[in-house]
Amino acid sequence: MSKITRRDALRAVSAGMAGLPIVSLAAPRNRSREARGEIRAYQVGDQKGLDSLTLTQRPDPVPGPGQVVVRTRAAALNNRDSSVLHGRYLGRKVAPERIPLADGAGDVIAVGEGVTRVAVGDRVTAVPFTSWADGEFDPSVFVADLGVGVDGWLTEKALLPADALVKVSDRIDYTDAAALSAVGVTAWSILHGLGAVKPGDVVLTLGTGGLSMMAVQLAKMAGARAAITSSSDEKLAAARALGADITVNYRTHPNWGEKIVEATDGHGVDIVVETVGASTLTQSLAACAPNARIGFVGSLGGQATAVPNFGTVIRKNVTIKGLTGGTRRTLERLHRAVEASGLRPVIDKVFSFENAPAAFAHLAKGDHMGKVVIRFD
Ligand SMILES: NC(=O)c1ccc[n+]([C@@H]2O[C@H](COP(=O)([O-])OP(=O)(O)OC[C@H]3O[C@@H](n4cnc5c(N)ncnc54)[C@H](OP(=O)(O)O)[C@@H]3O)[C@@H](O)[C@H]2O)c1
Repeated sequence: MSKITRRDALRAVSAGMAGLPIVSLAAPRNRSREARGEIRAYQVGDQKGLDSLTLTQRPDPVPGPGQVVVRTRAAALNNRDSSVLHGRYLGRKVAPERIPLADGAGDVIAVGEGVTRVAVGDRVTAVPFTSWADGEFDPSVFVADLGVGVDGWLTEKALLPADALVKVSDRIDYTDAAALSAVGVTAWSILHGLGAVKPGDVVLTLGTGGLSMMAVQLAKMAGARAAITSSSDEKLAAARALGADITVNYRTHPNWGEKIVEATDGHGVDIVVETVGASTLTQSLAACAPNARIGFVGSLGGQATAVPNFGTVIRKNVTIKGLTGGTRRTLERLHRAVEASGLRPVIDKVFSFENAPAAFAHLAKGDHMGKVVIRFD
């Protein structure tokens, strides 16, 4: 069986190919299981590490009022999914029977009473905060967060509220649709909401994970320049091939903020997608232009060893805003933009449903660039 390497995937994306080959380890669908009215789903278990992920058999879901059953075609991982399996996400464990993963896409196969937004046969995805259709953030959205507060996509059939669903155009494949949701709404909210991005702006993002690569792509789509940091020169070269304009290795240049200011002829960056958190904030601030906007979204770096240089916030009139996810309306806008532009999210590697534990291990290792996806072929 041939494997897709990151290089293959990136080559395919940068060459604008219509579709990536898929690593399929899937066995033919188990007809007897379907006949017995059972499906397979993973659950997060006791959350003592990646090995807690457990494959289970469950009854075929039946949609209640306002609900929809979706046959899953693809699902995608985010950094937080590792945190959930370690019992660390938002500092607590979730229910052990919880089905993980906030991102997915598939076909509607059954609708409950009162559902009019979608119909059987529609291709759909969902916004991860399923109760947040539009409007301002309210902490109540965490209650219905896919894969945390309610069951997510790592199941052959997902039971979802119709209000969370977004139709997927025939021009966007299931793998891409799954890869877009969480990172797409977050990056879009920073660039177009907080950041009010304009052509010619400089957008900085940290590391080459799923959120950062989406931020690079959306920055380029908006006519902005994209700056990115990484621990790997190889990944930075691949980021340049995907359109990044300014690249700095944060390992070999610990004061990378200065390098980014130099690379922008002294201007600095207008928008920061701060994926790492308090430990990189001093460098992010050093990279900022006057009146920059920082979307503070991640905590990859853990606690800072020193207090960030908040004096710079005043001197440069920087706005720092915490952001978490985005609305269904944002996901709808993103899908329209993706359909019109032909953007293909950067996908590092695709695993089969049967091989989902390997997908989690791959993400946790951190060698990836862009998204890690699971296909249900
Ligand atoms: N608030 C929200 O709504 C929201 C939504 C999505 C994601 N997030 C957050 O955004 C962050 C990224 O998520 P993701 O899913 O894109 O992660 P990911 O795919 O796992 O990406 C991780 C990458 O970040 C880089 N990185 C890790 N530690 C770093 C450090 N100390 N300094 C600089 N770079 C570092 C590494 O890139 P290199 O290998 O290139 O060095 C690593 O490969 C996470 O903290 C996640 O929780 C927040």
